[in-house]
Amino acid sequence: MKICVIGSGYVGLVTGACLANLGSHVTCVDKDPEKIESLSAGHIHFFEPGLEEMVKFNLKNGRISFTSDLDRAAKDADVIFIAVGTPPKRDGSADISSVVRAAGDIAKTMKKLKSRKGLYKIIVNKSTVPVGMGDIVTKILKRSGIPGRSFSVVSNPEFLSEGSAVSDFMNPDRIVIGASDTKAFDAITQLYRSLNAHIIFTDIKTAEMIKYVSNSFLATKISFVNEIANICERIGVDITAVAGAIGLDQRIGKKFLNAGVGYGGSCLPKDVSALVNVAKNAGYRAQLLKGVNEINEKQIDRFAARIRAYFPGAAGKKIAVLGIAFKPGTDDIREAPSIKLMKKLKAMGFAVSCFDPAVKKSHVPGITASEDVYCALKGCDAAAFVTEWPQFKQLNFELARNTMKKPVIFDGRNMLNPGVMREQGFKYFGVGR
Ligand code: UGA
Repeated sequence: MKICVIGSGYVGLVTGACLANLGSHVTCVDKDPEKIESLSAGHIHFFEPGLEEMVKFNLKNGRISFTSDLDRAAKDADVIFIAVGTPPKRDGSADISSVVRAAGDIAKTMKKLKSRKGLYKIIVNKSTVPVGMGDIVTKILKRSGIPGRSFSVVSNPEFLSEGSAVSDFMNPDRIVIGASDTKAFDAITQLYRSLNAHIIFTDIKTAEMIKYVSNSFLATKISFVNEIANICERIGVDITAVAGAIGLDQRIGKKFLNAGVGYGGSCLPKDVSALVNVAKNAGYRAQLLKGVNEINEKQIDRFAARIRAYFPGAAGKKIAVLGIAFKPGTDDIREAPSIKLMKKLKAMGFAVSCFDPAVKKSHVPGITASEDVYCALKGCDAAAFVTEWPQFKQLNFELARNTMKKPVIFDGRNMLNPGVMREQGFKYFGVGR
């Protein structure tokens, strides 16, 4: 099948590259000509394991190409994916303007092809959108004079996690296809046939809702475990033992029960807020979901307060923040807890150094990122672990202790063993332990 993907950001590029790898001919479109030039040369503008190799491989075998020209890309495409951003607006609702623009552009392109006999394209929404967006896309096309028989609109949400997106795409837990006709459903199912995945066929609105609810449930698990961690901390119980034990109950599940400084990234915080807004617009106050984001926002404040409480005077004290990316395996810093922490520590009067294996700038004015973890630790009164990069667990802790002014660790991800750290001469503080 011939595929056109509008938007060569994170979702669009992973989708395009993986579909090309599965055998489709893919043209990725982006309005940024510089991005297109660099992608055409096989360079990816962000870090995602395995993606660059996959793009290069498919560029070589001619199954993927990049262009700014939607007309050219969409002309012969059987399927057009919309994979553009839906960032949060001030009130927490999703900004759908890029999706609306993409739908308008598709309509313009299809208008030029209107005289073509048997014109039919499937427009698939991959962007995370409020429930009802499928209807809006349909209306945009119809209003532009494109007859209903010439297109189908499908919702096919993505469930990729940054840092493991390629492997998530190739080994999905499920593929959700929301469509209003079996012709479109069958065609999209064909795209994924070699993945042998559990495919769910539903209506468009339900598919849109499944996406929001998946991310909101993951966020709820994290805020739940963080709330329990805050209780554990006060009553002398270790959250990691509690979470480990409850996670063995298959109804609860082990994943997403790591207490810490909370969730960041471009998806979980945004999608919880957006679902709160969807509820509000439908006349319902989503109390639990509001609480989920509130607990998350406070979690980093608590962590900063804990550091502050340990040092009665911040002046002259230096904290090394280890990890800047919002999670390991990526260089994405959107909504990163590390940045919020650095700002807070700075405002409290601490000097701050930082290091991340993939992010080379602190993104906080006045704080410089170190080239090396031991440089960041040099002369510090404490180290705060904020991103659970595996290499942080493999540090030479003897060297770290000797490099630091004071051997104090605040483990914002509960990634280190408290007993081992204490044996190595560190004062250790985790979250909820
Ligand atoms: C999330 C979802 O996990 C994906 O399924 C979804 O497709 C994606 O959003 C999206 O909508 O595009 P992602 O934002 O890449 O993926 O990151 P997650 O792995 O969900 O992690 C989010 C945050 O939660 C990170 O800051 C992580 O450190 C934190 N986290 C995760 C915890 O604090 N505790 C945990 O137990 C797990």
